[in-house]
Amino acid sequence: VVPGGVDARGGHRLSAALYDPLTRRAERRRLGAWRAALLAGARGDLLEIGAGTGANLPHLPPAVRGAVLCEPDPAMRRRLAARVAASGRAGLRVDPSPAEDLGAPDASVDTLVATLVLCSVADPARALAEARRVLRPGGRLLFLEHVRGPGWRGRAQDAVTPAWRRVAGGCHPNRDSVGALRAAGLVVERLALTSDVPWGPLGAPVAMGVARRRG
Ligand SMILES: C[S@@+](CC[C@H](N)C(=O)[O-])C[C@H]1O[C@@H](n2cnc3c(N)ncnc32)[C@H](O)[C@@H]1O
Repeated sequence: VVPGGVDARGGHRLSAALYDPLTRRAERRRLGAWRAALLAGARGDLLEIGAGTGANLPHLPPAVRGAVLCEPDPAMRRRLAARVAASGRAGLRVDPSPAEDLGAPDASVDTLVATLVLCSVADPARALAEARRVLRPGGRLLFLEHVRGPGWRGRAQDAVTPAWRRVAGGCHPNRDSVGALRAAGLVVERLALTSDVPWGPLGAPVAMGVARRRG
């Protein structure tokens, strides 16, 4: 949810430059703690979609054997690669694949991570079909997504979405991402819905939890 401005060669340069400064306060207040709690459940071979500037990187636990951090936007990816290099952690790889077309083989991933990204992907159904394809049977998708609110708030989010997505790097404030996980055939095993959070249009609620590919 940062200003857009697409540059075909360089990606969303302004968004990439502003992402960490603009989210710093939210990270300190709550988001960082949510990431830590979510990622505590990560293990084995991990793949993250839309990894952005690498905000989840400090929270990867030792139980993660290796991680492929996918990020299609070149400007975001440059920052991600710098953060990976600075981390000094072995077993991390940066990959340009979009969520809708992951390079990973079928059933090769134990943990798939999606944080604040299902709002932005071009085709959420295709992205989640890919997530399901690459997860091993029993593998888990850890998600943290702002979602469409109930009642008048949801209707207001619908109204602002066409303008918001233009200025916020393709972010749709009104997506039912938990419904999309279920529609993709994943089993939502744990779900926490926060009340309002201090960012995004109208303070969108956040859904955080675990979805599993059936064994
Ligand atoms: C709001 S940022 C979130 C970044 C990171 N996941 C986080 O938690 O801070 C949304 C990210 O989704 C990425 N994105 C947009 N379209 C995508 C797609 N089709 N596939 C994968 N990532 C995409 C953007 O480049 C951006 O890095």
